[in-house]
Amino acid sequence: MLKLNVNIDHVATLRQARRTDEPDPAWAATQAELAGADGITFHLREDRRHINDRDAEVLKQVVATKLNMEMSTDAGIVKIAMRLKPDQVTLVPERRQELTTEGGLDVVRNAKRLKPLVKRFKGVGVATSAFIEPAETQIRAAAECGFDAVELWTGGYAHAKTPRARTNALDTLIEGVDRAHDFGLDVHAGHGLTYRNVAPVAWIPGITDFNIGHSIIARSVLVGIREAVQEMRRLLETASHHHMAIVEADDLLPDR
Ligand code: PXP
Repeated sequence: MLKLNVNIDHVATLRQARRTDEPDPAWAATQAELAGADGITFHLREDRRHINDRDAEVLKQVVATKLNMEMSTDAGIVKIAMRLKPDQVTLVPERRQELTTEGGLDVVRNAKRLKPLVKRFKGVGVATSAFIEPAETQIRAAAECGFDAVELWTGGYAHAKTPRARTNALDTLIEGVDRAHDFGLDVHAGHGLTYRNVAPVAWIPGITDFNIGHSIIARSVLVGIREAVQEMRRLLETASHHHMAIVEADDLLPDR
């Protein structure tokens, strides 16, 4: 079954719009879990524009499913993550001016720095994932650094302006999943996925986890978090059934 990790950053964005104490992202995390989320994702950014240090501590205490912390390789953030010990860290690039994470981490260029960092996290039992563009060079570098998983950046697909560009982006993702499997990596996906565009990505066999934030939180404002999470779960479940149908059809074919 495909796993849905709900990114609750933008619950904190809403709170920070007034610098008050509501809504609390931990409340959202609990509601998302009650609705069937398989995990909770948050990004403790260097500028603390949404999630803050207290949120990270509270999430660690209340999240009963998988806690995935997105983070840059900044020394101060690494120190917090090493102390917090979420179930998984996802290393992402971070720039102050960006609205959200734009593109993947350059693992090729930063391999020397990333390899010992991955080792440190592994040493304290924290799984590691690298958020990268689905390029073979990056996937190979992630495997060489010892990451457990790669999260393939789906922004190229989500932002594609034409059907041809979308198809090409999907093909690139499909190839990326295959390459990552060749290197023994688990494959996650995320960025820019919405209720309208998630199905073709979810239909790609071999992606286990989806990290989805903005679209779910945006819908939550209108229909509530539980319904929003359940709707996204249903879309992923439909894709899972499709995968199973393919496996079963394969089994029915005579050996050649
Ligand atoms: N995955 C990663 C690594 C991200 O940085 C983000 C954005 O915080 C997401 C997934 C979720 O993206 P979106 O909010 O567009 O669903």
